[in-house]
Amino acid sequence: MTNKRWTISLIVLFFLFLYVLFHFVAATQEMERTVEKLKQTARAEKTAPHFVLISQEFDNPYWRKVEKGAKAAAKQYRVNVEYIGPLRTNVDEQVKLLEKAIASRVDGIIVQSLNDAKFTPLINKAIARNIPVITIDTDAPKSKRLAYVGTNNFEAGQLLGKAVASRVSGSNKIGVIIGSETSENQQLRLQGFQSIIAQHPSLSVVALSVSNISRFQASIQAEKMLLTHPDITVMVGTSALDAIGILMATKNLDRDDIKIFGFDDVEETLDAIQQGKIVATVIQKPYDMGFSAVKLMVEHLEDKSIANEYFTATEIVDATNVEQEGTK
Ligand code: BGC
Repeated sequence: MTNKRWTISLIVLFFLFLYVLFHFVAATQEMERTVEKLKQTARAEKTAPHFVLISQEFDNPYWRKVEKGAKAAAKQYRVNVEYIGPLRTNVDEQVKLLEKAIASRVDGIIVQSLNDAKFTPLINKAIARNIPVITIDTDAPKSKRLAYVGTNNFEAGQLLGKAVASRVSGSNKIGVIIGSETSENQQLRLQGFQSIIAQHPSLSVVALSVSNISRFQASIQAEKMLLTHPDITVMVGTSALDAIGILMATKNLDRDDIKIFGFDDVEETLDAIQQGKIVATVIQKPYDMGFSAVKLMVEHLEDKSIANEYFTATEIVDATNVEQEGTK
């Protein structure tokens, strides 16, 4: 009897031991798998391609949206995107950042090309060193860049022209503020805008100034313009902070009769549209630009062929659709 009990106890103990051993082995294997996975992630992060995105102005709200899109794509495609740009718009600083990116042999450069003559040779130098370059927001069409991602700027200028022509009545003199004299996107927007205004004899552009993409400069220039041409009744701005600057000027001069049209969907512009202080704005898709540029760069590294130009959407926002736009 005692022997039988011993035998049963031993068998129970044996199975208990087997059970514990089984769990121990299973837990050890699970741990090894987790460690291996972590190592793989660390290895992947270490070797993940490193792209640099060079903006016109680091903290500009428009460029922050481009950055957001690029970072979202970086997460999705497991690459690293380093977002850089001058504190205040400055072509020479932007050129230096591009030179630095080339010297550090990054895996891809996404750059706004502010000035064709300065950027084209550098973009070609990067390509010669096997560093792929995609232009964003503003193209360098004569360079060997792989692709351009951004607005069709001539058409966007036309959209602005149509927005004005369809929303004002009678004879109107127009003052225009552009972001930059040298950048291709601003020139194309201006040409597109003028091509539409030329079709309307009751409308004429009587003054043109440059804001250097600063709302304060836009305001100063708009004020000067309105003082020199008091008969101006419509003012348009073709870069993201111009309309807000123009609005500051009309407030200073007590000219709330001026009809203001702008570009982009920065918060203050949308608020002013809601309050009836800005008539309409042409919005671009900076988030999509950032996202698509990174996606295309990844596809290029995977040896897929990518289009030469990739146009993102534009749209008119006015009092009729500003609420939906604000919640996007
Ligand atoms: C333009 C950018 C510019 C930004 C400045 C946008 O409309 O597309 O080139 O940097 O305005 O605020």
